[in-house]
Amino acid sequence: MKNFIRMTLAAAALSLLAACSGGEPKTENGPKAIVLGFSQIGAESEWRTANTTSVQSAAAEAGITLRFSDAQQKQENQIKALRSSIAQRVDVIAFSPVVETGWETVLREAQAAKIPVILTDRAVDVTDDTLYLSLIGSDFVEEGRKAGRWLLENYPKNASVKDSTGGDVNIVELQGTVGSAPANDRRKGFAEVIANDARYKIIRSQTGDFTRAKGKEVMEAFLKAEGKKINVLFAHNDDMAIGAIQAIEEAGLKPGTDIVIISIDGVKGAFEAMIAGKLNVTVECSPLLGPQLMAAVKDVVAGKPIPRRIVTEESVFPQETAAQVLPTRKY
Ligand code: AHR
Repeated sequence: MKNFIRMTLAAAALSLLAACSGGEPKTENGPKAIVLGFSQIGAESEWRTANTTSVQSAAAEAGITLRFSDAQQKQENQIKALRSSIAQRVDVIAFSPVVETGWETVLREAQAAKIPVILTDRAVDVTDDTLYLSLIGSDFVEEGRKAGRWLLENYPKNASVKDSTGGDVNIVELQGTVGSAPANDRRKGFAEVIANDARYKIIRSQTGDFTRAKGKEVMEAFLKAEGKKINVLFAHNDDMAIGAIQAIEEAGLKPGTDIVIISIDGVKGAFEAMIAGKLNVTVECSPLLGPQLMAAVKDVVAGKPIPRRIVTEESVFPQETAAQVLPTRKY
């Protein structure tokens, strides 16, 4: 009985201590848990939702206290979130920048407060490299190249595709968010590869902001302007491709046959569209960055050096592989 009372009192004392110190969890050895301020872009795509889940579950598993905020795709909200993390004096700040430019001032504020910054997923364009420690995420230029290579290697093989006999191949492009690293880089990588064959021409290119709704809306406009001239759609993400598929069907055309569709991410929705024959290929872009981020955060707090660039390994999934691969997909 005495033991029970002692244990109850000890537990009460520990929770009182936690409450007095702001309620932060303690590690087994006593010191305060690492606090990570994370500013997410939003919830614009299946990819982003999977990325948020990955960050949140990896933080919980690593015993890191996560102060998470959703910027609803607005840079001003991300800047506010970073300032709030600085004011709270978190141990590390991580964020996925919605666009590449405009971060210099707030990153200097973090540096002045001696709070290390790690970028996840997207890059920033700053003149001073010391403003962040590392970038964990995909090589978006290479993703664009993979999409272009797949097209050059496979397009003529698509027997059911019209105009595969040596004439011009008219491509429409659905770009990601204007000014974002994946939109800039995927565009660049794809253009670089298709420049090797003069038959391939981008006849329209516009942003669909990485969302299904916008992807559909812009594809409707492309179809209105170009109609049956369109041979290929290159969408910077799966969500826009899925929105565009609806627009193509509503226009009385067969997605994946009348128009070859190439997209990026490799989310489950893309695999379902491939199994239905409506999408031809998806280039993988992994959102599962949480575990790598938490490992880097722990190293930084322990004073260990971390690599300046951590690149995610990714594959290309053509339609023929979809049924076999879907059951193994994690997002
Ligand atoms: O930055 C990664 C991109 O952002 C993904 O391709 C897209 O789906 C997301 O919204």
